[in-house]
Amino acid sequence: MDSFEWNKIFAALLTMAFLVLGVNFLAEELYHSDTPKQAGYVIEGGKAEASTQAADTGPVVEPIAPLLASADLALGEKAAKKCAACHTFNEGGANKVGPGLYGIVNRQMAAVDGFGYSSALKAYGADKTWTYDELNGFLYKPKDHVKGTSMGFAGLKKVAERAAMVAYLRSLAATPAPLPEG
Ligand code: HEC
Repeated sequence: MDSFEWNKIFAALLTMAFLVLGVNFLAEELYHSDTPKQAGYVIEGGKAEASTQAADTGPVVEPIAPLLASADLALGEKAAKKCAACHTFNEGGANKVGPGLYGIVNRQMAAVDGFGYSSALKAYGADKTWTYDELNGFLYKPKDHVKGTSMGFAGLKKVAERAAMVAYLRSLAATPAPLPEG
């Protein structure tokens, strides 16, 4: 083999090397441009929905009204144990850290005699009653629903538990308030 032959072989090897590099480069380009596309697609799908929801409805608390009629009173009574450190539920029950809750549904807000409400709840509730909607929002996250409330309770996040809780509260009255229509 003379040097000319070697040159040809070398040139061939070089060409191959460039080809391999080129293919690699292309593959990487494809891979790189593919990945964001795919990830973008997945994220878009998931997030788009979530953000439309947030934009359309805001941080709305899931309503309990449709669940009240068939809510589980026993579950509500159990949930009430979470309130019992601060609230009584019996008729004429004393105020503790929080006011007595007997007959709370549809009652004027911040209206239990002798209880020292926060100025926040007094202001918020001046012209409001504890409707199912108000109870739903308040019990979901008290501090969000009435900014500045002195009720130190994180909230009942599960809609079934909130519905059961409110259904139980409703039952604590001589004449339970009518259930919401529909
Ligand atoms: C750590 C004590 C504490 C716990 C636990 C607690 N609360 Fe309260 N609650 C309070 C206080 C204090 C207030 C008065 C809030 C204010 O004046 O801002 C209050 C107020 C309320 C009111 C408004 C009463 C009115 O007369 O306007 C409702 C309704 C209520 N709580 C329901 C509940 C329920 C239901 C639970 C359990 C799921 C619960 N709370 C758990 C302390 C508590």
